[in-house]
Amino acid sequence: MPHADERVADEPEVDGRGADDAALRAAAVAVLTANRRGASTVPAPGLYPYQWCWDTGPISLGWAAAGDWEQAWSELRTLLSAQWPNGFVPHIVFWELSDDYFPGPDVWGTVGLGAPGGPPTTGITQPPLPVSAAAALFAADPDRARAARELDGLWPHLVAWVTWLGRARRGPHGAVVAVHPWETGMDNSPAWDDPLRSTPESTHTHLERRDVRTVAADERPTTVEYRHYLGIVAALRDAGWDTEQQVEASPFAVEDVGFTAIAARAAADLAAAASDLGHDADAAQLSTLAASWRDGIEALWDVDRAWYRAYDVRAATFVGPATAGGLLALWAGAADAARAAQLVARIEAWSSGTLRAVPTTDPDAAEFDPIRYWRGPVWVLVNYLVAEGLRGSAHDDLAAQVRSGTRALVARDGFCEYFDPRDGHGIGGEGFSWSAALTLWWLLS
Ligand code: GLC
Repeated sequence: MPHADERVADEPEVDGRGADDAALRAAAVAVLTANRRGASTVPAPGLYPYQWCWDTGPISLGWAAAGDWEQAWSELRTLLSAQWPNGFVPHIVFWELSDDYFPGPDVWGTVGLGAPGGPPTTGITQPPLPVSAAAALFAADPDRARAARELDGLWPHLVAWVTWLGRARRGPHGAVVAVHPWETGMDNSPAWDDPLRSTPESTHTHLERRDVRTVAADERPTTVEYRHYLGIVAALRDAGWDTEQQVEASPFAVEDVGFTAIAARAAADLAAAASDLGHDADAAQLSTLAASWRDGIEALWDVDRAWYRAYDVRAATFVGPATAGGLLALWAGAADAARAAQLVARIEAWSSGTLRAVPTTDPDAAEFDPIRYWRGPVWVLVNYLVAEGLRGSAHDDLAAQVRSGTRALVARDGFCEYFDPRDGHGIGGEGFSWSAALTLWWLLS
């Protein structure tokens, strides 16, 4: 990978508004096509060679926007074919074994616990973004018979997923509890620093950082963090991967605003689609779940910091500076007008200087790091969830600015995994599926 500064120097900055839509579209389709592995698509070649849970949501939308509706639905069907019998959906499905990723199936050791005869998987989950993607595909698919058939086929799996979350992951404030930082999707967010420090470090002698073969180490989590990540995996494995009891079993248990927001929106989206499919009986239960998760988010509002913050269940304390997780309350439509205005004022202040929107950590926080993964860089998925959360509200202008700013990032440096908020240069993995997929679905739609 070229050094970031070289890349910026070598390539003229393209104003997103002037970039050629057709070229951007062709490039995004090429990324998805290169990352497709038959029935599902990997997040990035080399770095992430399997099917990831929450990535599957945006990836399916990208295929739909590319016009391949069969592949779009296939992504969701494929993920849910690996659902465990109690409704739990694993965060990685190991469809084809690869040497490029650690920790692989041997470390997780879940064989025999998942879908009968199914592939090996991890034993932790990720936010249920594919549920909202299913509802969005259903609304947009021009072939109405296919849309009804596909959503109907997925329906019991989607309902089982959100009801499992409601049953097994309820925290003291009514928000969703993540039992591993990887579950939040924002692996090394500074919000997890304190709770992670209290977890055991792995004694695994073969801790292999295969990620740093592809991406510079200073753009990734640290090895100490990895030792703790694996220490939590070991504790959950020793507890037998009982996915009904992980809140009690895990040394890490944190109510996460971002996860809760995605769950709340998922349940609300399903409730809205229920009557179209004749599943009215499910609608009330789903609406109740969505409302209880929105209430959970409100209970995590920190008045002094004017931000939604995560809550460490073990230490019984709120944790972290202002991070992207708290901002996702907007995606759930949870924040009332006054709270939304406070969040928006903060983002505008962050990006009114030279910073690109939306940094994943408060740039004024001591923990901010502009290039290290979830500790500052801009991510296309976060921008999409924030902008969509604001669309049609009093803050429509900011939604439009975030969208055009994101377009400028991908138009200049391509479909990188994340971007440095100081100058917008692309970092992390290249040819990243959700950056390409959301370009198709969101930025070019
Ligand atoms: C990283 C990200 C996570 C994502 C995965 C695959 O682990 O932190 O959010 O799901 O990569 O793209």
